[in-house]
Amino acid sequence: MPQLSAKNRHRVSFTLNGKHTSIQVEPRMLLTDALRHVVGATGTHVGCEHGVCGACTVAIDGLPARACLTLAVQVEGCDIRTVEGLAPSSDRLSALQAAFRQHHALQCGFCTAGILMSLDAYLSTSPNPSEQDLKEVVGGHLCRCTGYAPIITAALEAAATLRQEAPHV
Ligand code: FES
Ligand code: FES
Repeated sequence: MPQLSAKNRHRVSFTLNGKHTSIQVEPRMLLTDALRHVVGATGTHVGCEHGVCGACTVAIDGLPARACLTLAVQVEGCDIRTVEGLAPSSDRLSALQAAFRQHHALQCGFCTAGILMSLDAYLSTSPNPSEQDLKEVVGGHLCRCTGYAPIITAALEAAATLRQEAPHV
């Protein structure tokens, strides 16, 4: 593992939502701060900053991760996805986003980006989840507004939509 000088800024290159991205950061900078303040990708939210609330969840190499517990220098060479990369185009929502809108699964929206990223990663490998499975995924996130029930309803509907859209083998 390379030794980085705490006094210097270091170049970190990664893919962000499919685009090559290269930034310079101090070794102590969190990925949340790098995304929001260096890159300008403010869709990733910051709540507790100690791994509890889930608001900062992003996908790193396909797996959900707390960006507030990740140093920016750790993502050198990684594939990062954030909520800005979920929609297939600027005029179309993903199945998950559309189901959230349909079922009022967000109110203030502060928790929403993180929940979407966790559910998106989960549904990509578990296309036929039970309600209990989804409760466990969403259980890693704090939401003050919705009571969670519409989030689970939306996730179940998104899973059904994605199964219909998936090519049959
Ligand atoms: Fe990262 Fe709360 S801000 S878990
Ligand atoms: Fe407000 Fe979840 S919608 S915290």
